[in-house]
Amino acid sequence: MHSKVKMLPVIMLNDVSRSYGVKESKVEALKNVNLEVFSGEFLALCGPSGSGKSTLLNILAGIDKPNSGTVILFRKLLNQLQEKELAAIRSHYLGFIFQSFNLIPVLNAFDNVYYPLILNGHISKSEAKERAAHYLSSVGLADMGYRKPGQLSGGQQQRVAIARALAHKPQLIVADEPTGNLDQVTGESIIELLVDINRRNGTTLVISTHSLQLKARAQRVVEICDGEMTYDSAQ
Ligand SMILES: Nc1ncnc2c1ncn2[C@@H]1O[C@H](COP(=O)(O)OP(=O)(O)OP(=O)(O)O)[C@@H](O)[C@H]1O
Ligand SMILES: [Mg+2]
Repeated sequence: MHSKVKMLPVIMLNDVSRSYGVKESKVEALKNVNLEVFSGEFLALCGPSGSGKSTLLNILAGIDKPNSGTVILFRKLLNQLQEKELAAIRSHYLGFIFQSFNLIPVLNAFDNVYYPLILNGHISKSEAKERAAHYLSSVGLADMGYRKPGQLSGGQQQRVAIARALAHKPQLIVADEPTGNLDQVTGESIIELLVDINRRNGTTLVISTHSLQLKARAQRVVEICDGEMTYDSAQ
């Protein structure tokens, strides 16, 4: 990787902690996590179920806030920002693929990809239509555009969510177990799609996963256990 590019962290977490609940029911989901992710990296975040992966991804993307510590995303300190400013940063820089997909149930698959592109305001309707068709096709759903989420399998919904995130051509893709609901062959094709986007466009990828294939293709692996970072292949 180009050394100058490597100098710019797109994400910086400093001593980030996040707990849920109080007293006896308190869960410390993240404990003093420090992490820098550099432009163009492909990072796999691994760890057992309940270790804090989703919590960490939500915090670094500004979807959730830490109880303590700082989060810097594209040189902006997120802690002090209002929801409106956070939303603007997310829509400008970030494609987030949720573990639970977060598709809009009343819209069909095509419109789930198409409408957010239009709402973002930066591209024409015809360009948005082309992109929606292209990315649905690239996740293997060219013929499924007319179906609503309720008429799609979990894996198909997951792929619509992936197409929706990719269609924005963001600088950073944060994905929470994007192959978790996919069979082996479909999962591998999605991994190749992500690897290709990382190589071709220099898109930074931060992906939580239990998949050994995805872990093997990542350039950097970070492990988390009980809310603590236990391993970083870059250290
Ligand atoms: N909203 C919440 N309220 C209370 N506890 C929560 C909440 N969200 C997460 N937790 C707890 O925080 C810890 C970390 O959860 P998190 O969802 O980040 O794990 P994960 O590594 O993403 O797990 P998985 O691999 O199953 O998706 C778990 O102990 C979980 O029970
Ligand atoms: Mg999770």
